[in-house]
Amino acid sequence: MTAEPAPPLHDELRSFGRKRARKPSPRQQSLWDGALPRLRIDPAVLDATPLTALFSAPVTEVWLEIGFGGAEHLIHQATLNPGVGLIGCEPFEDGVIKALTAIEERGLRNVRLHPDDVRPILRGLPAASLTKVFVLFPDPWPKARHAKRRLVSKPFLDALARVMLLGAELRIATDIPAYARTVLEAAIPHSAFSWTATGPSSWRTPWPDWPGTRYEAKALREGRRPMFLTFLRV
Ligand SMILES: C[S@@+](CC[C@H](N)C(=O)[O-])C[C@H]1O[C@@H](n2cnc3c(N)ncnc32)[C@H](O)[C@@H]1O
Repeated sequence: MTAEPAPPLHDELRSFGRKRARKPSPRQQSLWDGALPRLRIDPAVLDATPLTALFSAPVTEVWLEIGFGGAEHLIHQATLNPGVGLIGCEPFEDGVIKALTAIEERGLRNVRLHPDDVRPILRGLPAASLTKVFVLFPDPWPKARHAKRRLVSKPFLDALARVMLLGAELRIATDIPAYARTVLEAAIPHSAFSWTATGPSSWRTPWPDWPGTRYEAKALREGRRPMFLTFLRV
């Protein structure tokens, strides 16, 4: 593993809203107390470990999902790809409990969790260690005065560029046109990323292994059309 230092990230503005919505049931509390300590990863020691060794299943590559929400996509990908290790980051505790429940029910051994802000993980990961990164419906922060809280930005892409292997894929979905613009304005001029789109059907068509998420369903119900943006680390 390389010891290349992580570049500093921009000021860690709060990019997320609530951390907890409701009181956990006794079973959920026992997952939080029992399963989470085994599955959570320590951002401080990530660089000391070969990343694939973080998982109790034998895995050959590692993917990262940022803001997994209700964990629908995280669990779907982990089930579909048993030879891949997935790191899921999500500060919203109800989402973490959903992930813990599904991991236990399905006996998944290829998922590790960081129940908080992804940015310490991005600083801790070894360089060129991820082959896929998902940022699916990041919090939109639609008001102009909050736009600076949007997670995707040039410094965020710089941090992703450091930890992604050449050829790795970055998938970003959003239902907010202004957010898509924010993403494209940061990514198109970025020398480490290349947008794969060849025309509107590229960003209107979900990825072939896309299971849908709760947030996407809400956007569709409310008449917003999701955009699926794919970039390669070049
Ligand atoms: C709009 S929700 C979408 C959730 C899920 N991806 C989906 O499609 O249903 C955005 C999620 O990103 C999480 N989030 C926001 N900022 C984050 C950060 N800095 N690190 C990790 N997750 C973050 C939020 O807590 C929230 O659950």
